[in-house]
Amino acid sequence: MATAAAATLALPAQARTIDEIRKDGKIVVATEGQFAPFNFFQGAKLTGFEVEVAEAVVAKMGLKIEWKALSFDALLTGLRQDRWDMVIASHGITDERAKAVTFTEPHYCSGGVIVAKDAAIKTAKDLAGKVVSVQTGTTYLENVKKVSAVKEVKNFPQDTDARAALVSGRVDAWVTDRFVAANSLKANPDAGMKLGDFLFIERIASAVAKGNTGLATEVNKALAAIQADGSYATISKKWFGEDIRCK
Ligand code: ARG
Repeated sequence: MATAAAATLALPAQARTIDEIRKDGKIVVATEGQFAPFNFFQGAKLTGFEVEVAEAVVAKMGLKIEWKALSFDALLTGLRQDRWDMVIASHGITDERAKAVTFTEPHYCSGGVIVAKDAAIKTAKDLAGKVVSVQTGTTYLENVKKVSAVKEVKNFPQDTDARAALVSGRVDAWVTDRFVAANSLKANPDAGMKLGDFLFIERIASAVAKGNTGLATEVNKALAAIQADGSYATISKKWFGEDIRCK
């Protein structure tokens, strides 16, 4: 009996199907809101490239959107608990994550880059003996860990704190998304940060509850439609001056 009860409790809540979402008229989408220029707050307003992409996708689906902003590490877990229908927060598609959630098609391609103040720290090799900051739970952490000669990896709940650690000189390098890095360098020209090489590349996608393929299929159709009708390109050029879709 005890085992059966425990097994029932461990079952994920039933994710809402696309039909249930359609009946409701509204999809609940979660993001972090601390990862400019992808998802961030301008005052009280949630904005950014992937906020606008999600809004265009959801509009194509004929639905309204309700945003939730949470810490990065809560996002994929909440899908399993049926607290929201979809997550869009610059998640790279990994085998590990794909065991827990269902990814849609990627909405952009990017990669993790090395940022340092010392121009001599540019490549993975240069990280030997160095202290590196990354956001907790990210592919940056995973990939820095693979660089065996790194002295120490410091984890921060937010990527902005990982950046602050570099700026204040508590770490030698910061690994983050290439577009986030470029944006940060532009926004903080006097901080002395320099852009190094790619450590790895990745495909970035939204996620839905594991097995919610009905919803994923509709999202994929809508994403393909905004990529075909020019609206994706307009949003991308507005934020980056280029089209960052996967080629
Ligand atoms: N691309 C990285 C990953 O897949 C980092 C994502 C961080 N996203 C964020 N909203 N802070 O883990």
